[in-house]
Amino acid sequence: MLPTSTSFAPGKLILTGEHAVVHGFKAVALATQRGCTVSLKMRNGPSGVDNAPADDERLRQAVASVLPAEGMGVEIESDIPIGRGMGSSAAMTIALIRAKANFDNEKLNFHELHRRGFALERIFHGNPSGIDHAVSALGGMLEYQRSENGPTMKPITAELPPIVVIDSGFAGNTAQQVQKVEQLGAKGRSICTDIHHITTEIIRLFPTPDPDDIGTLLTENHQRLVALGVSTPELNEIVQLALQAGAHGAKLAGAGGGGIVMALSSDPQSVLDAATDAGYTAFQTRLHPPLMRLP
Ligand code: PMV
Repeated sequence: MLPTSTSFAPGKLILTGEHAVVHGFKAVALATQRGCTVSLKMRNGPSGVDNAPADDERLRQAVASVLPAEGMGVEIESDIPIGRGMGSSAAMTIALIRAKANFDNEKLNFHELHRRGFALERIFHGNPSGIDHAVSALGGMLEYQRSENGPTMKPITAELPPIVVIDSGFAGNTAQQVQKVEQLGAKGRSICTDIHHITTEIIRLFPTPDPDDIGTLLTENHQRLVALGVSTPELNEIVQLALQAGAHGAKLAGAGGGGIVMALSSDPQSVLDAATDAGYTAFQTRLHPPLMRLP
C-alpha cells in the first residue's frame, strides 16, 4: 500500500477578545471538538487537493506551499462551518502541516508548528493575530496576547456551561472586518480597551466561573463588537433569541460580518430549539482537550 498520513486539528471559538487581540490586547479562545482532518497520500501527477469542503484559491495556495510539486494528493474533511469564525482555515493549515510532518517523520515542537501555521494563515487573512492556529495546535483553552517580541500564551483550565453555536447563514470576511476596525482609529482603540476590561473580568472568574457572571460578560462583549461595527442584524437577532431561550450569555464569535454566535446555556436544548424554530442551523460543541504542551 502507498504511504499515507492523516492528522486532525480542532476548530476554535473566541470566548472573549476578538479584534482587540489584533491590537495587542489579551483574548481567550477554546479549541472545539469539531475540527478538520487532512489526509495525504502518494499518487501520480502534480500534487494538489483531491477533495475539499470548498473550492478556494487560497486553499490551493496554502496546500501548494506545503506539498512537493509532484506525487501527493490531499483530502480534507471538516465539520466546522466554513468562513464562520470557527477557525476553519487555521484547523486546515495545522492539520496539513502536522500530516506532512508525520509523513516526513519530522517531529515538530509547538513553536515550529505555530510559526509555519502563521505563515500559511497569512495567505488566508493578511494580518492574523495568530490566536486561531495557536489554539488549534494546542487544543484546550488559551489566553493569548500578541506583542512585538512574539505572542504570549497561557493554557487555562475552566469549567464552562454547555456551548451552543448558531450559524447566521452568512460567511464573514476576516480581513475586511479587521480592516474596518483599523479604520475606526481612536474610536476603535477605545472600544478595544473596553473589550480588554471585559476579558480581564472573565479571566478573573476562572477556573470556576459563575454561569450568569460569565454569560453577562459575554453579552457585554457582544455589545462592544456591535459598537465596532462588526455585527449584523442576524447575529444580533440570534443573541436575543438565545437570551430569551434562557442562555446565560451570547456573543458573536470570530471576526463578524456574518459567521456564528456562541451561547452559554445550562439548558442547551432550549437554545437549540429556539434557533432551529427561527430557521437557523445550530449545534452543541464541547471543549477539545489539550493536544500539546507549551515548552
Ligand atoms: O478568523 P476569525 O473570523 O475566526 O477571526 C479571528 C479573530 C480576529 O481577532 C478578528 C482576527 C485575528 O486574527 O485575531
